[in-house]
Amino acid sequence: MPLCPLSAADVSAVLAPFERALALPATAYLEDAVFAFERAAIFDRTWLCVGREDDVTHPGEWLHAPLGTMAGPGLVVVRGADLKLRAFHNVCRHRAATLVSGDCGRVHDLRCPYHGWTYDLGGGLRAAPHAPGDFDRGAHGLLGARVDVWQGFVFATLDASAPPLAEALAPVPAWLRETSLAHARRAHRVTYEAAANWKLLCENFQESHHFTRIHPALERLTPNDDASSVPSSGPWLGGVMRFADGVETVSASGTRNGRPLLAAASYTQQVSDALLFPALFTSLQPDYLLTYRLQPLSPGRTRVVAEIFVHASAFGPHGPSFDLTDLTSFWDVINRQDRAICESQQTGLSSPGFRPSRYTVVEDGVHGFDRMVARAYQTGDAER
Ligand code: FES
Ligand SMILES: [Fe+2]
Repeated sequence: MPLCPLSAADVSAVLAPFERALALPATAYLEDAVFAFERAAIFDRTWLCVGREDDVTHPGEWLHAPLGTMAGPGLVVVRGADLKLRAFHNVCRHRAATLVSGDCGRVHDLRCPYHGWTYDLGGGLRAAPHAPGDFDRGAHGLLGARVDVWQGFVFATLDASAPPLAEALAPVPAWLRETSLAHARRAHRVTYEAAANWKLLCENFQESHHFTRIHPALERLTPNDDASSVPSSGPWLGGVMRFADGVETVSASGTRNGRPLLAAASYTQQVSDALLFPALFTSLQPDYLLTYRLQPLSPGRTRVVAEIFVHASAFGPHGPSFDLTDLTSFWDVINRQDRAICESQQTGLSSPGFRPSRYTVVEDGVHGFDRMVARAYQTGDAER
């Protein structure tokens, strides 16, 4: 484990009690050394959400899991002929070519595009053209990684010593525990890149203080005065927002527009947000779940996969049986607004005129996230 490149003083300033704490220094968002440390201490040692199980239902269906900071070929998560889900390093054992390209697909076997080494869906090497007669195919199977499923979401980790997924996720916020998400289906997915450090996007998710200036349309539906943070619990940070009078959900019309409820009964009058450290945001609305998966590309660049899941009963035989644009048009605007303001911060952080400041009294959620980061900086160990 490399040593944390931040000074002990900078780290303890963040870990101070909320009333006295200072935000992370600019270097935490700008420097390659910090980024490399975060990869080793956080992303390579944590269960990360990489997709949905219903994308890999049939034998041979695979999805690409860009683990860590997407610097390498990542993992391929594939359903075996025995219907078991497995994860393999997406790299050929011959001369290191990347095995699969793209986000997902279906294959009969995993065949390297370079010289044709072919692996079965269990990772065993089946064919190695021109290999010498005494070549031991059994010793050249794909190297595996851990994979597991929670509420229909596929998680993978590079850390052989990480606790089991269920243990690592505990305690799951009540609204996610009590809502049956395994039956939710994806209605929409959009992927974009933000020219901002991944932590700026996380901090942005942790407060609604910015709604009045950045998202006036969201402020009308869920006024930030009625928002509250839920104290952090294990790897989760949460927050709850109440609807303005007459509002049913967060959408362009403020109504469910015919969509069935998804959230468990106790959570249909609110928006329930939860960030799973380090890089999964979930926002449970009465009738849908919004998720954002962050994939850090470099200190100043982050890929975001934003998805909307609705109750399976909202789908007819040919797709969603409701008007999606009520949701997608609304969230496209909100996402663009958040992205623009985080990119503005990324630029500002390189100014010699910036110094970390105190948190305002409504930024306890931001401090909660920064504390998790600082603790990982301090111990070289992600929150578990
Ligand atoms: S690198 Fe894969 S077959 Fe040669
Ligand atoms: Fe926002």
